[in-house]
Amino acid sequence: MHGPLGSHGEAGYDRALMRLYSDLAGWFHLLTAPEDYAVEATHYWQGLLDACDGPAETLLELGSGGGNNASHLKRWFTCTLTDLSPEMLAQSRTINPECEHIEGDMRTLRLGRTFDVVFVHDAVVYLTELDDLRAAAVTAFEHLRPGGAVLFAPDYIRETFEPGTDHGGHDGADGRSLRYLEWVRDPDPDDSLYEVDLVYVLREADGSVRVEHDHCLEGLFRREEWIEALRAAGFEAEERPGVEPEEFPGQRIFIGRKPA
Ligand SMILES: C[S@@+](CC[C@H](N)C(=O)[O-])C[C@H]1O[C@@H](n2cnc3c(N)ncnc32)[C@H](O)[C@@H]1O
Repeated sequence: MHGPLGSHGEAGYDRALMRLYSDLAGWFHLLTAPEDYAVEATHYWQGLLDACDGPAETLLELGSGGGNNASHLKRWFTCTLTDLSPEMLAQSRTINPECEHIEGDMRTLRLGRTFDVVFVHDAVVYLTELDDLRAAAVTAFEHLRPGGAVLFAPDYIRETFEPGTDHGGHDGADGRSLRYLEWVRDPDPDDSLYEVDLVYVLREADGSVRVEHDHCLEGLFRREEWIEALRAAGFEAEERPGVEPEEFPGQRIFIGRKPA
């Protein structure tokens, strides 16, 4: 699954309401496991390689979460992983101890150094305002060397959105298990938001079971809005329909290349 949870507050993201990224973060890899990302990470690697002019050795990820994609991308890149949530960075460190981890908001992060490529996966869905998307594009631009490229992979754009349900989960080596039901809806097709409810069934190692719920609003932007946000930041921008994994029909890939 992609992009669970989020909340639309004044800042576009209210951590207080994000249970999976705060008090439930220790369950994240049982909701969505690193091994499930091998195929799609290869697509992102290929997309970044095609887009980047010159060597592609260093990668900055914005919103790296539990580090599932990074656990594969680190075979090809030296990865710097950034996220708003310290709890999620802690989860990522458990599977990516060799990667640099830094706390930061993709709209405002400024590390004062550049990378060959920038990668923004499903964390971008938590940007619910067009101005936030534009700010994230500027962050990517500021962290790329000339000729470098960014790849954004939103779960949906306005044109590809479909309501639906999904379920899944994993059994952990520590005896804990998680199963979830995800329900995705779009109450108002005229705005730039969709709604996600998630119910988690959490089984502890001692067999006790509890049920938790999360609800969030996520961002939905039109193709032209994506392209415009990237161009406004200074990128040569394009959509790459060929890169998205087949199992995510709503996902679209946007590439920005920083002029050499
Ligand atoms: C679904 S997780 C990302 C998982 C990641 N794609 C992976 O491969 O493991 C979404 C993450 O987005 C982060 N996030 C949401 N808004 C953010 C922002 N404005 N800046 C940085 N990270 C953000 C959350 O803290 C959360 O860790």
